[in-house]
Amino acid sequence: MSHSRRRFLTYLGMGTYAALACPSRAAAAAPAAFPLPRPRGAAPLFRPIAPSTEDKLLLADGFRYDTVCTWGDPLGTRGLHGPETFGFNNDFLAYFPIDALQGGKNSNEGLLWVNHEYPNPLFVSGYDGMSTKTEAQIVAEKLSVGGSVLHVRRDASGGVWRHVPGSKHTRRFTALYPTMEVTGAASARVPRATGTLANCSGGRTPWSTVLSCEENFHDYNRGNGVSTGTGYRWSDVPDQAIQEREYGWIVEVDPFGDLPPLKHSALGRFAHENAAWRLAPSGKLVVYMGDDAQDQFLYKFVSAEKYKADAPRAEKRKLLTAGTLYAADFGAGRWLPLDIARSPALRAAGFADQADVLLRTRDASRALKATPLDRPEDCEVHPLDGTLYVALTNNTAHGNYYGQIVRLLEDKDDAGGESFRFEIFLAGGPQSGLACPDNLAFDRKGNLWVVCDISGKSINKGAYRPFGNNGMFLVPTNGPSAGEAFQFASGPVQSELTGPWFTEDEKTLFLAVQHPGEESKSRAALTSHWPRGGEDVPRPAVVAITGF
Ligand code: FEO
Ligand code: CA
Ligand code: CA
Ligand code: CA
Repeated sequence: MSHSRRRFLTYLGMGTYAALACPSRAAAAAPAAFPLPRPRGAAPLFRPIAPSTEDKLLLADGFRYDTVCTWGDPLGTRGLHGPETFGFNNDFLAYFPIDALQGGKNSNEGLLWVNHEYPNPLFVSGYDGMSTKTEAQIVAEKLSVGGSVLHVRRDASGGVWRHVPGSKHTRRFTALYPTMEVTGAASARVPRATGTLANCSGGRTPWSTVLSCEENFHDYNRGNGVSTGTGYRWSDVPDQAIQEREYGWIVEVDPFGDLPPLKHSALGRFAHENAAWRLAPSGKLVVYMGDDAQDQFLYKFVSAEKYKADAPRAEKRKLLTAGTLYAADFGAGRWLPLDIARSPALRAAGFADQADVLLRTRDASRALKATPLDRPEDCEVHPLDGTLYVALTNNTAHGNYYGQIVRLLEDKDDAGGESFRFEIFLAGGPQSGLACPDNLAFDRKGNLWVVCDISGKSINKGAYRPFGNNGMFLVPTNGPSAGEAFQFASGPVQSELTGPWFTEDEKTLFLAVQHPGEESKSRAALTSHWPRGGEDVPRPAVVAITGF
């Protein structure tokens, strides 16, 4: 049992181990060193790499990657707007064994869901940042976001992963298509939505559908459209403006195409980062969710009905249409019900009905005094002990430049309950070797894989200089190296590695390389040429890493 694990058990009153006086590393280090010396435990799988500023995707020795699909690649299918191509800024990935609906675990052929988060106008539409945006430019941007279903296969001879162009499974979802029905209380006000956008991270349900999370939906109508974070001014053409209430939801998509896509309003409306599920002892389905913005909240949804393993998929998905949405109060260790029938403070704060609560979820959480957090990004459930790990990426408004990973334990191990405790599992910074944790993934042994999102503007500058480009890290959660970060990969210039997802046999790790060269100011001054090199523009791409 590691020291940190023992400390958590003691803190929780679950162990007999007495808390040790723990001399700080600073006091032990002589002469003074900065950053503090990093722990030197052994990574279980590889020799860690050093931070890098190279315009390459670097991996630890013994691993290699195949590029599965790159922005702009033809998919071999036709949509309403002509031949379909792979979208921009790939983020969340979820692999579905091709035989998943028959209970299979095929790890050499499957469907890969890919989120496409946001466009970079410089590359996607050629918008110059000066004039009014044209309809053609807006349509190009709308077609670049949403999601893709790729049929992927590992060839038997070389073991190379490729996608299968023109497969009957291949499909694009965009901001233009298809129309999606809204479920839950808010459907009374917003019955349906045109397509999906701002698809950041997500989750995979136990019935083999995707939960795709609409994050920064407020960026699209407004802004000057010059670069990310400043808006895409789709409202320059009034017919192309989006109705913002149609976005900011969790979208459920069936990659196998049997079930229509749905937006589930019972899970709230905010800058949805991801969705991680667990079953409560009662049999109810619990979905944990982060809202990635400064001083926003951590949420969970508890279904009204119980999960029935033998029910048809169309029945199982109804679990996401009714239940209780909660926001976390970390001070009291309470889950606060965002339920107008249970929390009188909501009516007192002016909420008219539950639809209103769901449409303005952030305001409702604030009215109940939920705890503002440092940008809650991904959360994942530990496969061995059921605790929830939450990446708080940073909050520069409060001097938290490096972020942390919080570990949350539900009282009585009941994910459906209303009280919890927490600890800090890992603090970002030079002492741990990583900064700004974002997506998380567990392998079956309970190793936590962490990708980082230092913003493109900040990489290699100031407080972020020690970290080089954004990378991927393995952090054991048990054993002698528990809590230590070992660098596994380093991304190209100004990229962020996103969407780590293992096949069922854990022999392949799918990974997205998002926004390489995103700080390029013009096509004549590109900051990255990844992946094709030469003078090519930088291109987001999805890779398959093997060697495990
Ligand atoms: Fe799209 Fe919160 O990252
Ligand atoms: Ca993210
Ligand atoms: Ca994740
Ligand atoms: Ca992020």
